[in-house]
Amino acid sequence: MRIPLSHRIAIAESVTGTAPVVLRGVVEEDLAPLRSALKKNAEHLAPWTPAVRGPMPWTLVEAARTVARHRAEWEEDRGYALFAFAGTTIVGKVALSHVVRGAMEGAYLGYWVAGDAQGRGLATALVAAAVRFAFATAGLHRVQAAVMPRNLGSLRVLAKNGFREEGLALRYLQIAGRWEDHTIFARTVEDDGDSHLSPDRRTR
Ligand SMILES: CC(C)(COP(=O)(O)OP(=O)(O)OC[C@H]1O[C@@H](n2cnc3c(N)ncnc32)[C@H](O)[C@@H]1OP(=O)(O)O)[C@@H](O)C(=O)NCCC(=O)NCCS
Repeated sequence: MRIPLSHRIAIAESVTGTAPVVLRGVVEEDLAPLRSALKKNAEHLAPWTPAVRGPMPWTLVEAARTVARHRAEWEEDRGYALFAFAGTTIVGKVALSHVVRGAMEGAYLGYWVAGDAQGRGLATALVAAAVRFAFATAGLHRVQAAVMPRNLGSLRVLAKNGFREEGLALRYLQIAGRWEDHTIFARTVEDDGDSHLSPDRRTR
């Protein structure tokens, strides 16, 4: 599977209620907006997202590592981190990570929206776009997400996107220093027929 890093997904103004948003991978030129978004949203994201990059992901060194990692994963079909740009500002992210090919054809879904961009349907639109990308562009069969049961906003985003609840995974991820239980959700191509697929792939 080869998807160019220049791949773009446009989300119309009517969906986000603000400026039009473009979803795309990041390159070295995006370091400044990435650092700014990570710094500005650090407190907003800390209670909900796994902190695997150390305490200050917005420093030049850490942000450059993040860009390089996302880029390598994209080019090696291991993950697709799509950042939501409103002009030159990053207002959110939706990522397909840990891509597994072969008998599984699956990936994990993660997402966040900037504190000041919440409550306008942006996360719902980002997840919808990522699911379409996963099935129609990346040729995946399954997208899985894990959410802490108290993250009501995230639960609603998945429900609005037709994700099925599959069960509770105990002590699943370390969030803000604690092993947190997560509810597992998934969608496969079959869940809403094959409408995501281009006509030439509808016989899979
Ligand atoms: C969770 C998050 C992604 C939601 O983003 P958002 O753009 O505000 O979500 P949307 O505007 O698309 O809202 C989707 C639905 O969730 C509801 N919702 C959003 N936040 C909510 C909250 N805190 N409590 C209850 N419902 C909430 C909205 O009302 C909407 O439902 P509706 O259309 O029936 O009214 C965002 O708050 C965020 O980035 N949180 C921190 C990171 C995070 O939790 N990521 C997910 C980890 S699993």
